[in-house]
Amino acid sequence: MADAANISFAVITCSDTRSLAQDAAGDFLEGAIAECGWECRDHSIVKDEREDIARAIVRACDELGCDVVLTCGGTGLSPRDVTPEATRDACEREVPGIAEGMRAHSLKYTSRAMLSRALCMQRGSSLVVNLPGSTKAATENWEAVVDVLPHAVSMMAAGGHE
Ligand code: MTE
Repeated sequence: MADAANISFAVITCSDTRSLAQDAAGDFLEGAIAECGWECRDHSIVKDEREDIARAIVRACDELGCDVVLTCGGTGLSPRDVTPEATRDACEREVPGIAEGMRAHSLKYTSRAMLSRALCMQRGSSLVVNLPGSTKAATENWEAVVDVLPHAVSMMAAGGHE
């Protein structure tokens, strides 16, 4: 863990069809993290399987020690969209305001934001944020959360406000 100047991330793209070579939204997130001067420790692709996604989240939090884990995709209504369920399996405590904030911000762009079932939850001192899978939607949702991440991370680490 670290101060706001040095936040560590993992990006987990949840998709049956994408590969690391073809993951524009994941690449965007990696770039956006770097632009903020933060560290992306891992970028992986996981199939839309609840157990696999939960395992990847646990690994990013516990083994890689990431402050923030961004999942990308699998938050919609299709039968294979299981990222929120996997997030709940892997995490302990919900942070509803972040997901609410993403949807509120996203409604400025599209009413389809209502179709996101994204969650934000804590696992220990890591924050897991579900982002949608298209590059456009991931960009717009990143925009909504980026400013709040440093304070969230410092609160998780220090156990309160500075
Ligand atoms: N949020 C923003 N900002 N922009 C978008 O275009 N698309 C929505 C929603 N959130 C969208 C958005 C759509 S169409 C869906 S189905 C859900 O995100 C879930 O996307 P996912 O299944 O790729 O996770």
